Amino acid sequence: MIIIPHINARIVSLQPENLMIQQNKSKPNMKSVICNLKIRSRFALVALLAFVASSAAAADLEVTAPTNIFTRNTISLNGDWHYIVDPQEIGYYDYRMRPTRWGFFVNAEPKSKSDLVEYSFAKAETMKVPSTWNKSDERLFFYEGTVWYERDFQYEKRDGERTLLYFGAVSNDARVWLNGKELGHHIGGFTPFCYDVSDVIADGNNFVVVKVDNKRAKENIPTNIFDWWNYGGIIRDVMLVRTPNNYIEDYVVQLDGQNQRLLNCFVRLKQPQEGVKVTLEIPELKIKKSLFTNSNGTARVQIKARPRLWSPENPVLYKVKLQANGETLSDEIGFRTIATRGHEILLNGKPVFLRGIAMHDEAPFKQGRVTTTEEAHTLLNWAKELGCNYVRLAHYPHNELTVREAERMGLMVWEEIPVYWTIDWTNNATLENAKRQLHDMILRDHSRANVVIWSIANETPHSVERDLFLSSLAKYARTQDSTRLISMAMEVTGAKNFVNRLNDNMHEFVDIVAFNQYVGWYRDVKTARKMTWEITYNKPVIISEFGGGAVYGRHGDAEERWTEEFQERLYEENLAMIDRINGVAGTSPWVLMDFMSPRRPLKGVQDWFNRKGLFSPQGQKKKAFYVVQDWYKKKKSADEQPKKK
Ligand code: GCU
Repeated sequence: MIIIPHINARIVSLQPENLMIQQNKSKPNMKSVICNLKIRSRFALVALLAFVASSAAAADLEVTAPTNIFTRNTISLNGDWHYIVDPQEIGYYDYRMRPTRWGFFVNAEPKSKSDLVEYSFAKAETMKVPSTWNKSDERLFFYEGTVWYERDFQYEKRDGERTLLYFGAVSNDARVWLNGKELGHHIGGFTPFCYDVSDVIADGNNFVVVKVDNKRAKENIPTNIFDWWNYGGIIRDVMLVRTPNNYIEDYVVQLDGQNQRLLNCFVRLKQPQEGVKVTLEIPELKIKKSLFTNSNGTARVQIKARPRLWSPENPVLYKVKLQANGETLSDEIGFRTIATRGHEILLNGKPVFLRGIAMHDEAPFKQGRVTTTEEAHTLLNWAKELGCNYVRLAHYPHNELTVREAERMGLMVWEEIPVYWTIDWTNNATLENAKRQLHDMILRDHSRANVVIWSIANETPHSVERDLFLSSLAKYARTQDSTRLISMAMEVTGAKNFVNRLNDNMHEFVDIVAFNQYVGWYRDVKTARKMTWEITYNKPVIISEFGGGAVYGRHGDAEERWTEEFQERLYEENLAMIDRINGVAGTSPWVLMDFMSPRRPLKGVQDWFNRKGLFSPQGQKKKAFYVVQDWYKKKKSADEQPKKK
């Protein structure tokens, strides 16, 4: 008879006398109590040592998620995964809240009819991966906690290869096991992570188990309150990646910021290996170049070239091919320069107005996270209809599919990490978490020509601690990518005598001073005409949020909140006011589409939606849409006018 001692079973040995203690509480027999205690403590010690050993070993298997995963030699693990909801984390902790070695990651099945195994993935329901559990199982609509995922798969091992297990994103705390062996623990719900499973994966049957937890916490990034749905689950693609023993981990093929006739090319291998031949090809530019790695496993070269430049009007992408150690990576890369000059943002050396809209990574029509290029295309097409050449992807890294589709559609992008509202500024682990997400976002998307701004924060309260935290993030971003603009969404929340002042120490550390303001919604619309704005920084200004709510199809007079007429007038007043603000080089109204938020409970009006969209969740345009569309038409034609010297 086998008993798989489990979560709510105590760690007890199978000796009969142990059982006895449990049963007759009245007269304890000291000799057996002591021997029992000895057995238990020895057992606990073994369990603990085994756990520490296994978790210590686990960390080693995490590797940097290689850039451009989509054109690597991959096997998708998307599809139906079994899941078990585990509010008390019994699959991970025993009844003393100690990590157990008999957790759900063992994926145990009873071996005989008397065996006790109190869970079974094989019998459990399935849900699609990638998805969110909130929109896959209505019982989990509001659920915040742990859900276990499991799937079996076949694999054919090949000599001379490494195998990686890649997750596009898991929201937001993931522990991963392969064949019962722990691979690692990843925190951060919006960026990719990866494990080298070459020595764990089996030739034939395999099973992967993921413990996903989306509980909110003050010290997390994002912190424990935010105005979007706390979706949980394996929200982006999962895949196995076959690579050569030493593979291309990262590369940059980019137009030089100072010289539009020079390409900077950089390649980094996973391992520091000297003399590896890397071939770079850009057929349309008749470029075929061989580079050889140095002892760090990196290679760098500058190549003269005259590419047509990427721009929203002309989103030209060039086929680029990189080969090393028998692996071929192909990519589509655009070449452009981005810079600032006083209040101007210069794209390819010319001033451009960023005609934008802010959006969440939420699928149209059915909500949940965006998981396909088609869903991304739908959202981005709505932005194009609005007259946009730019989108603010708020407040966290969106699906890579969205960023790539925006590049093909000619939309510049602001990307952001969820340092949102009041963060645990003095907590070093929180800072490391933010840096990690910044690193991973930049590594994933730094080859995208349309990504022009990295944003490090949104609406954060002023303090010395905050400035220290954010300034170190801004500096860190520049060490990861010195070719793009750094910004953050500051706030103007009040005005003395109708004079609005943007006053933020962080202006020093950013290239673009952006701020959110809500005249007309959280502040009285009637004040808009009287408002003046004092922004003394000689940098481009972006109004990164403004707007107000309306329920699609609800009509009334402009005084009546939640009507389309109220939102329409709010936009008319705001855009007229913004026309009077000096130095504005871009806008991203809040927000493209009504999106889900647990902070919006108003029944019959919000019903868990933030209603500030210019589109309803079903893609219906509200009246305010046309106000913004008109304004962008004017901005576009102004941009096309020849500039006076
Ligand atoms: C804030 C915040 C958004 C939020 C918006 C709102 O400015 O940045 O995330 O959704 O206001 O209140 O609608």
